[in-house]
Amino acid sequence: MTQKIRKAVFPAAGLGTRFLPATKAIPKEMLCLVDKPLIQYGVEEAVAAGCTEIILVSSRGKASMEDHFDRAPELEANLASKNKTALLEVARSVAKLAKVTVTRQAEPLGLGHAVLMAKEIVGNEPFCVILPDDIVDARTACMKQMVEAYEETGSSIIGSEIVEGDAIQNYGCLKVTPDSKNPRLLQISDMVEKPKPQDAPSQNAIIGRYLLTPRIFEMLETITPGAGGELQLTDGIKALLKYEKVYGFTYEGKRHDAGDKLGFLKATVEFGLKNEKLGADFRAWLKQFPL
Ligand code: G1P
Repeated sequence: MTQKIRKAVFPAAGLGTRFLPATKAIPKEMLCLVDKPLIQYGVEEAVAAGCTEIILVSSRGKASMEDHFDRAPELEANLASKNKTALLEVARSVAKLAKVTVTRQAEPLGLGHAVLMAKEIVGNEPFCVILPDDIVDARTACMKQMVEAYEETGSSIIGSEIVEGDAIQNYGCLKVTPDSKNPRLLQISDMVEKPKPQDAPSQNAIIGRYLLTPRIFEMLETITPGAGGELQLTDGIKALLKYEKVYGFTYEGKRHDAGDKLGFLKATVEFGLKNEKLGADFRAWLKQFPL
């Protein structure tokens, strides 16, 4: 029997410079795909995977993220007084998703450092890490698929996909051999953060989904700055490999890099087309463009 996965950490302390000027006063995680901020997609995925506690690793000027998941008494009173019950339910339901705890990363020292900030709140249990830029559209929530893989292996699981050509230099890269029993699992023997294309051991990229055993915190306390001079989560997991098995996981679904302007636009169009209420009208409207 594996320990139940209850907690999900959301590193969300970055300055969002890739998205300026939009992110000058608004956290990147609060940019909206159709009608929901990016971070809500991630939180809903964690909840679908069975998590009940969300840990936001935040920073100065980003309090709108925690407000989003809190009750909004004035808004609720206003909607109630106007009998707008459907909207009232929408506003309330966000606050009911999960218990949200906030910790801060005071300095931008890297993703590994951001995850380490959640050590005390996570405690001694396995937990998820979701990078809110990576939106995974899947029939079964990506993190739920990974929780199932964890229940099968009892080991840390890292979301992975094949990327084309030089794109691997933008990701953590896994050296893997396929698992003989489960075709979605990859046995990891090594990993490297943002390799030069000629040095990449494979085209297997890490995506922003991790399920980690708590020993990762010990590793993150010992690593030194790596790629980009930052404390990298990839280096922490590589250190973990000396003690425990870690698996890559080929998830079912489609990932959007919503932290990138073009990726965000693509996701907006796809999610707009799929939207139950808006999709048909949006599709009809798009037809006027000679594509
Ligand atoms: C981070 C990780 C990287 C991973 C990527 C997935 O990089 O460090 O290993 O492949 O997320 O989105 P970042 O995109 O924050 O530079």
